[in-house]
Amino acid sequence: MKALILSGGKGTRLRPLTYTGAKQLVPVANKPILWYGIEAIAAAGITEVGIVISPETGEEVKAKTGDGDRFGIQITYILQEQPAGLAHAVKVAQPFLKDSPFILYLGDNLVQGELGLFLEHFQSRDLDALTLLCHVPNPSAFGVAKVDEQGRVLQLVEKPLDPPSNLALVGIYFFSPVIHEAIASIQPSARGELEITDAIQSLIDQQKFVEALQIQGWWLDTGKKDDLLEANQIILDTCLTSSIQGQVDAASKISGRVQICAGSRIINCTIRGPVVIGNNCHLENCFIGPYSSIGDAVKLVDADLEHSVILQGATIVGIHQRIVDSVIGQRVQLRVAPQRPKALRFMIGDDCQIELCQ
Ligand code: G1P
Repeated sequence: MKALILSGGKGTRLRPLTYTGAKQLVPVANKPILWYGIEAIAAAGITEVGIVISPETGEEVKAKTGDGDRFGIQITYILQEQPAGLAHAVKVAQPFLKDSPFILYLGDNLVQGELGLFLEHFQSRDLDALTLLCHVPNPSAFGVAKVDEQGRVLQLVEKPLDPPSNLALVGIYFFSPVIHEAIASIQPSARGELEITDAIQSLIDQQKFVEALQIQGWWLDTGKKDDLLEANQIILDTCLTSSIQGQVDAASKISGRVQICAGSRIINCTIRGPVVIGNNCHLENCFIGPYSSIGDAVKLVDADLEHSVILQGATIVGIHQRIVDSVIGQRVQLRVAPQRPKALRFMIGDDCQIELCQ
């Protein structure tokens, strides 16, 4: 069994963060989204892992993630020159996959639960494809499945206007090598991509063994800002353990589960977990409320925030209105003068969203 993780794509829904980096490297609870998938695959006992990268962000993904040593696996990077669809990525990876069965894992998906259980189902039933499904309120935004009572998949449609059910295809699939022939038989969709959904439909049309399992826990597709904040909240809720390695002065109050990494200094702050604070941060006179993730080398002085993700190297000074539901990019500087400001001075990148609300 091998695994193929897709880490290309343009990440248009996460702009402006994705102008400067891969969407799969955006952190959730201070860890790149992609790494959760790698860890889940490693935990299922799979050691041969291919990661499909794009020309735009591939080098960054490689540099950050490495050869797999840190996860106890072997990573092979595979370049997909064009974002021509998920099935196209599998085609490009065929020399790596050879005739092995494999898990296809979309690098911006997070699911609760162990992949090992799904893998066991796929192997013991000798399936050609196993898909995972999840009830969603907005099926038209996904691939959608119609299944019978035994879990056999009857029909799959990509982003249907009139969905046959509210069961969305989760971005994790298990395939036998027959999928390669199915991919060779399909044509690009209306959005110009070779859809994996169409390839699985072709397996169904040929009476191959295609089943689906409904996942019981949460599934997060971290494509947009609010999904990212939700993923951050759920991961902090379920995975964070307390540990204080940085320095906390006597005037600070810390409650709940809080992780403060090495080299960080906390001066006269109130921190209510779950909160994670990276390495080498400086926090002074701040309130940090639940569900906040603060990356490495962040400086926060006279600032209040909660339910927010602050990326590496950002600086926030003098903002006493509470910052909520926010994602602040790397090296961003937000400063308010100590006196009531008379002017606002901005240098804001393309596609940013700024709301001053009641
Ligand atoms: C892709 C698949 C879709 C699936 C989704 C899950 O959509 O085509 O069937 O439901 O991933 O994340 P995309 O992210 O390419 O729009």
